[in-house]
Amino acid sequence: MKSLIIYSSEYKNNSGKISQIFAKKLSGDLINLRDESDIDIDHYDLIGFGSGVYKESLSPKLYRMVEKLNLKGKNVFVFSTSGIGMKFYNNRLIKLLESKGAIMKGSFACKGSFISKEFSDNKIFALMDRLSQGHPNDKDFQKAEQFIDQIMVSLNR
Ligand SMILES: Cc1cc2nc3c(=O)[nH]c(=O)nc-3n(C[C@H](O)[C@H](O)[C@H](O)COP(=O)(O)O)c2cc1C
Repeated sequence: MKSLIIYSSEYKNNSGKISQIFAKKLSGDLINLRDESDIDIDHYDLIGFGSGVYKESLSPKLYRMVEKLNLKGKNVFVFSTSGIGMKFYNNRLIKLLESKGAIMKGSFACKGSFISKEFSDNKIFALMDRLSQGHPNDKDFQKAEQFIDQIMVSLNR
């Protein structure tokens, strides 16, 4: 089975670190959207799409790239890192992928460190900032590996 991880990690490479865990675990290929925009997915059986969260959204670059792909019948999963570390940020991308005929295999999210002062004076962001420090950490990497294990089980059923 051939796997591909496509990601955008524009801030601190937090999502890049998670992408590397996924690619290693799947012995798959890894594409950073910063380096490539023309992507051929024909030969892949499983494709993971992920990015950091910037102002409540995954990277617009990722959405633009997904729009161009033919995903009919492709197994896919989605992931993100964010200050808050919640999966709901993935929902818009999940809907887009499903609307293009992809088969959704899972959604993963974890915290990714950020410095709130760099973009906001909001006290909520200051709290999120403190809680996010050190992430993604070894526990997050472990959860990322377990997430892939679950996908593999569901694909082999
Ligand atoms: C400009 C900017 C906006 C952000 N907005 C949010 C946000 O709306 N919600 C959130 O939970 N985290 C937010 N964050 C934190 C990032 O999602 C977090 O640091 C993430 O791990 C960055 O991923 P990356 O290093 O792969 O780019 C923001 C960070 C930046 C730099």
